[in-house]
Amino acid sequence: MPEHLPRRQVLRTAGALGLGAAAAGALTGPAEAAGTPDRLATMGAHHGKLEIGKAPFGTTPDGKKVDVYTFSNGRMTISMLTWGATIQRVETPDRRGRVKNISLGFDNLPDYAALSPYFGSTIGRYGNRIAKGKFSIDGNSYQIPLNNGENALHGGTLGFDKKVWSAKIVQSAKAVGVAFTYVSPDGEMGFPGELTSTVTYTLDRDDNLRIEYHATVKGKPTIVNLTNHVYFNLGGEGSGPIDGHVLQLNAPKYTPVDATLIPTGEIAPVAGTPFDFTKPTAIGARLRGDHPQLVVGRGYDHNFVLGGKTGADGLRFAARFWEPEDGRTITVHTSEPGAQFYSGNFLDGTFRGIGDRAYRQGDAFAFETQHFPDSPNQPNFPSTVLRPGQTYRSTTVYNFGTK
Ligand code: BGC
Repeated sequence: MPEHLPRRQVLRTAGALGLGAAAAGALTGPAEAAGTPDRLATMGAHHGKLEIGKAPFGTTPDGKKVDVYTFSNGRMTISMLTWGATIQRVETPDRRGRVKNISLGFDNLPDYAALSPYFGSTIGRYGNRIAKGKFSIDGNSYQIPLNNGENALHGGTLGFDKKVWSAKIVQSAKAVGVAFTYVSPDGEMGFPGELTSTVTYTLDRDDNLRIEYHATVKGKPTIVNLTNHVYFNLGGEGSGPIDGHVLQLNAPKYTPVDATLIPTGEIAPVAGTPFDFTKPTAIGARLRGDHPQLVVGRGYDHNFVLGGKTGADGLRFAARFWEPEDGRTITVHTSEPGAQFYSGNFLDGTFRGIGDRAYRQGDAFAFETQHFPDSPNQPNFPSTVLRPGQTYRSTTVYNFGTK
């Protein structure tokens, strides 16, 4: 463990079901002693109680208070921070009922601020890369600060992942969660127009985590591509490589990239390549092959073009991940046309996570539903322009199960 990092208290996995136990684990941290949740809402129970609580998580260097919200359906428990509207913990049972946190993260705010490679973050204003940080709308040119070699990544140096969002509890008979809102001023990170984004995360009784993105812009047209960058390891965070996870992707095509991970513009078929996950295949099965796209990405770090049409609910099946040993599954449906499947290639063990174990290359995956990277510079990709008077909407549902 590098010396400059504070030794952190190791958090217990909540283990038992219900908010009391979960909060004891999730809300206890070194940055601040666990607060007593100042609000506890319970909404009846069929298969389990829907509960939510809030506690202080820390304070930013410029004095902003950050809270952690912990919500549960009696079977699974999710903790989210107002810092970056971040998914901090996702505790789910395996097929034998053993509960583990399957999402990578930290137990304290300084580590999120200094180290986090977008663990659980809500990403904005533009998910993934914009070539050289440049784009234009209606003949006006804009420059985003570069933070990934010669490109801009995930909204520039100070993206939405590094902002404190306002939060409001949402609850119904069926689901519980938090609506996070952030107002990004005109010109922030070089983006035009004042953008108001609300991202609502709710957990229902059927173990669906539903993420609904909503945004409007004032003053000038802008570009928007919101996503969440949660990293999962279905054997438990910090439990080692995800090579054995089996993936099925509803993606007949993908967008190959250049050496700086900017799409070349080509929309290529996956058939006959290591990018073909149309039939369930272990992530590690072809990961270390010599396909040039796997070499430039150091593994999978590509946008997949989802197949088929969205259903009546506006969603379509995107992917299913399955960890055969403990049996956990995640099934993803989305309204988005694409998803970045990232096999944790740039995790390099330099920092330790919430369970005090180093995260190394390939120890997690992210599956970021989104419009395609660099769309503002790629005329053949679906547009990401949002104009005043229009509403940006996007929905992604993660279902957590076992098999
Ligand atoms: C990008 C990766 C990057 C990761 C973490 C992904 O969305 O495609 O290249 O390393 O986010 O920043």
